Amino acid sequence: MQNEPGHFKLLAPFYERFIKPKEPEKILAQLGLPQPDGAVLDAGGGTGRVARYFVGKVARVVVADQTFEMLQEVSKKEGLTAVCALTEEMPFPDGYFCCIVMVDALHHVADQVATINELWRLLKPGGRVIIEEPDFRNFRVKMMALAEKLALMRTHFITPGRILDLFGDDRSVKRIEVDGWTAWMIVEKPA
Ligand SMILES: C[S@@+](CC[C@H](N)C(=O)[O-])C[C@H]1O[C@@H](n2cnc3c(N)ncnc32)[C@H](O)[C@@H]1O
Repeated sequence: MQNEPGHFKLLAPFYERFIKPKEPEKILAQLGLPQPDGAVLDAGGGTGRVARYFVGKVARVVVADQTFEMLQEVSKKEGLTAVCALTEEMPFPDGYFCCIVMVDALHHVADQVATINELWRLLKPGGRVIIEEPDFRNFRVKMMALAEKLALMRTHFITPGRILDLFGDDRSVKRIEVDGWTAWMIVEKPA
């Protein structure tokens, strides 16, 4: 079920030199990180570029990713646990994480529905999922999607509203925040 034809394998050693987190403070503020004894998951977390900002704020920070070479960069950072897994099926019990983030990765996964269902399974009642994605309603993002197609990346962008729809109707506390061409989809699981 590997989606990307090796792009991230090649990019891994240079990834963080070129891609900077947009606003890690924004994700931190949205997460709230209410449970110092809890665990946070960064799904499709790559090199741990974003997850490293959570270290010291909770008991455990896990980066799950399918690309071994990206995870090798995670292991160079203090306080992160690297797990090689598909976001569609991750090796953790139900409700293991108090917060889950997924940054710039949903449009890369092979199965978005299975991924969202898996994030929901892993989230503790009362917990929060934050998905950061390029806002596909934005013209610049549409051009970026086209460029990725030309680069033979099998990406699949969907709009913020469609992402929230994937969480289903019963998952009622949902909102979208937008800044420029980036959107954050925030979903809270009833306690
Ligand atoms: C653009 S990178 C973003 C990495 C990280 N979230 C960040 O913001 O720095 C996308 C990541 O998604 C991972 N990925 C793509 N499909 C995946 C899947 N089905 N399961 C796990 N990881 C996946 C890739 O290996 C890559 O590391």
